[in-house]
Amino acid sequence: MENHPPVRVERRPVSEAESRRANGPDWDRYADEYQATHGEFLGDAGFVWGPEGLTEAEARCLGDVTDRDVLEVGSGAGQCSRWVRSNGGRAYGLDLSHRQLQHSRRIDAESGIHVPSVLGTATALPFADDSFDVVFSSFGALQFVSEIGTAIAETARVLRPGGRYAFSITHPTRWMFPDDPGEEGLVASQSYWDRTPYVEVDDETGVVAYVEHHRTLGDWVTLLAGHGFVITDLREPEWPEGHDRVWGGWSGVRGKYTPGTAIFVARLGA
Ligand SMILES: C[S@@+](CC[C@H](N)C(=O)[O-])C[C@H]1O[C@@H](n2cnc3c(N)ncnc32)[C@H](O)[C@@H]1O
Repeated sequence: MENHPPVRVERRPVSEAESRRANGPDWDRYADEYQATHGEFLGDAGFVWGPEGLTEAEARCLGDVTDRDVLEVGSGAGQCSRWVRSNGGRAYGLDLSHRQLQHSRRIDAESGIHVPSVLGTATALPFADDSFDVVFSSFGALQFVSEIGTAIAETARVLRPGGRYAFSITHPTRWMFPDDPGEEGLVASQSYWDRTPYVEVDDETGVVAYVEHHRTLGDWVTLLAGHGFVITDLREPEWPEGHDRVWGGWSGVRGKYTPGTAIFVARLGA
């Protein structure tokens, strides 16, 4: 969750259509600031799984990507996919935000590493069945969609049997705490089991401007198992000693005590 003023914050149900109508334009508005603020940390051809800075070179959640067909859902400016391409994989991007994809094109041109990308949503992937060996998201898309079962079903559909799925999200336990990087963010104040979405409403127009959805760890296990995935790993990166970067609600103050990122790794089929 980032700050998008002037808005008022609510907790209430929102549909998939409403989530999409809010989040596409929101990421269009926010993309320039996002890339200016976080672009250097992400690296033009870098792959970090979250604000803790765990890289795919360290984590190896995707396995060997050489000669693999790889889809990044919620690819933003394509940094992770560019890392996959520079490591021998055929990575493709998909994102809901036109402006994020313009940044992807800009970095393609600047870096010389091109990530073919498409405007679309995680809940309706514009690819044939069995197209990819690996699908991944680094904080992309999943916590922004309402119809998460559809997004997981779409992933299973485009993956080849035995294919790998890896994604990072805000650690579900973080939803118990205020989104504050300071000590206030260490005091539990809301129920872990309350799945009511976090909604920002434009104060002047009343239009929903931003939405995030919460699922518990158990929800994710049920979702993945229910769509034919076998979970092979759940990574919870620790906050590294001396890492003093603050990103929204992620900081060393909180990272010392509570996990901020969860990375699920799964295989399609037995
Ligand atoms: C936090 S960014 C992560 C992108 C990239 N991995 C990074 O670290 O910069 C989340 C991305 O998800 C995209 N997104 C949000 N909802 C989406 C959806 N329904 N389908 C596809 N992408 C979506 C946003 O446009 C945004 O680029």
